[in-house]
Amino acid sequence: MNVISVLNYKGGVGKTTVTANLGADLANRGRRVLLIDLDPQASLTFSFYAADEWDAQLRPAKTVLHWYDSFNWSQSQKPLRDMVTAPPRINARLSDRGGRLDLIASDLGLVDVELDLAAGLGGSRYQTFNPDYLKVHRMLADALADDEFDEYDVVLIDCPPNFNMVTRTAVVASDHILVPAKADYLSTLGITYLRRRLTQLVEQYNGVAGPDPEASINPEILGVVFTMIQYAGSGLMTKLRGYIERTGQTEVPLFQQGLRESKNVFADTGELGIPAVLAAHTTENVEYDLTQLTSEFIAKTGI
Ligand SMILES: Nc1ncnc2c1ncn2[C@@H]1O[C@H](COP(=O)(O)OP(=O)(O)O)[C@@H](O)[C@H]1O
Ligand SMILES: [Mg+2]
Repeated sequence: MNVISVLNYKGGVGKTTVTANLGADLANRGRRVLLIDLDPQASLTFSFYAADEWDAQLRPAKTVLHWYDSFNWSQSQKPLRDMVTAPPRINARLSDRGGRLDLIASDLGLVDVELDLAAGLGGSRYQTFNPDYLKVHRMLADALADDEFDEYDVVLIDCPPNFNMVTRTAVVASDHILVPAKADYLSTLGITYLRRRLTQLVEQYNGVAGPDPEASINPEILGVVFTMIQYAGSGLMTKLRGYIERTGQTEVPLFQQGLRESKNVFADTGELGIPAVLAAHTTENVEYDLTQLTSEFIAKTGI
């Protein structure tokens, strides 16, 4: 099982779009996929469930909020497995190659979880001294280590647009980080900052975890995926690569495949419960971008 966080501290850069489409395409190609929505905005959840379905079927007892909320500083939590759902429309739409798409839904209440977790550790500055530092940071990693999750080939985590506690639990649980970014100069600058924050977290965590290599983490940046590309000319990707090189971080891997902008295709995302890659109204170009991205993802991860 490979755990991948889809992460950028910026909102509106295509994290949820990438997570939903990659997940759906992987499942359609026969992979057993678990998506986890950690963003309180719950856009990933609403890409698969209508608001009233969520309200009636998920909100009462089947969201990641219930799991985080059950975190007790001295005892163990509710099993994460209890929060897993199988969105019906997308699963009915998948090919018969044995794949499936499960989801752990989100809830707006997750914003309060952030505050509680951070406060429980004594605020952001001094938390490394807190005896619960590892336990809290590892909570998602430990939950996903449960045998019940062995049945998945891949777990994709849609992170909130920040680097707070919930995001940190996702990073600690991850083998890889996938970074969607808008294809423009300012966004390439943001990648430097994101990378620095990631390095800081990994060093801090490993410092607390101690010298045992079994206990340390090493989530690697799988790559930056450029989204919402407006193809004004063919040189855009070259230009973006130039920006990245000039910010002195040639070591950040980039996906060859980007996602072009298409307001028509992506505007009604979620309404049908089927991501664009498998939706009937998708244009050939958009479908090409999305499936190429999946193929590149498979090549990079071996999933
Ligand atoms: N390639 C694209 N072309 C046009 N609109 C897009 C594209 N990708 C995403 N969008 C739209 O942009 C908005 C933000 O995307 P989203 O995936 O929700 O970003 P994030 O999860 O980073 O906040 C959404 O309304 C989405 O439908
Ligand atoms: Mg989102």
